[in-house]
Amino acid sequence: MDFQQKYDGYKKLVENFLEQRTRKKGISKVDEAMCYSLSAGGKRLRPVLLMATAEVLGKKGYNYLPVAGALEMIHTYSLIHDDLPCMDDDDLRRGKPTCHKVYGEAMAVLAGDGLLTLAFEVMLEQKNVPGDVLVEVAREIAMCAGNFGMVGGQALDLAAQGKTLTAEEMRTLHSGKTGAMFIAAVRSGARLAGAKPEQLLALTKFADLFGLAFQIRDDILDVEATTVELGKPAGSDEKNNKCTYVTLYGEEGAKALLDKTLAEAKMCLEMFGEDARLLSEIADMLKMA
Ligand code: IPE
Ligand code: IPE
Ligand code: MG
Ligand code: MG
Ligand code: MG
Repeated sequence: MDFQQKYDGYKKLVENFLEQRTRKKGISKVDEAMCYSLSAGGKRLRPVLLMATAEVLGKKGYNYLPVAGALEMIHTYSLIHDDLPCMDDDDLRRGKPTCHKVYGEAMAVLAGDGLLTLAFEVMLEQKNVPGDVLVEVAREIAMCAGNFGMVGGQALDLAAQGKTLTAEEMRTLHSGKTGAMFIAAVRSGARLAGAKPEQLLALTKFADLFGLAFQIRDDILDVEATTVELGKPAGSDEKNNKCTYVTLYGEEGAKALLDKTLAEAKMCLEMFGEDARLLSEIADMLKMA
């Protein structure tokens, strides 16, 4: 089986899980808005990374679908809020009109709140792991998603509009906004699969660099790709006067940094040898053509 088939297999597992787990509806129309964004597509990268990390340590990734699916719910909530008129004000996401365009702003805010909350219900349904491990995984995910991680990074991103940040400030912004959820994915997979401390450390370093590479690539694509290719509006960063890796280093400079960061990320996997092949191939997905 080639890499793409393998990746698509994991993605399908996540999508089936999400579809099945959201069949039972709550008491209002907010379910419709939540499912609209959740089922709109997307790469499902964070849940696949969680599963691939568990496999590095010899466990089957599909055993951890509740935690993996929960990560995708948190990520989708972050996208719904990111697109709101008071944030990036974008009309297209995953190739479809954004949640607020279809359901209105208030319902989109609630759809995000609903997904974030449901995520914690779903992840705590995870079976076959010791209770203390699951509690620690949930605690770390909360920390990565919140003011120490993604939410904090989003706030820094808003504050940086129209400004030029230093390289260090930019790294802090990106580590929060994007990196933290990748760290959550990889560390959750590692902890659920019983990683030893030195393995957890190496995988965390990998995730941090992977997250950085991911956002550098996202910033480059915002300038270089088309709206159709992206499924979200190209040029959104320029429209909003964002400080990005492209505004800091130019397109070529950002690409060079992307290559360097990816190479460093892959070095963190060396201690796992062939066992980390899938994870390493996922990192290769971020290479620019
Ligand atoms: C987009 O994430 C938001 C960023 C962190 C840059 P993805 O590119 O993973 O979005 P989907 O899930 O595939 O739609
Ligand atoms: C958003 O970053 C990251 C999130 C936490 C959602 P961007 O604003 O660059 O993401 P896109 O480009 O809209 O997907
Ligand atoms: Mg944004
Ligand atoms: Mg955005
Ligand atoms: Mg972007």
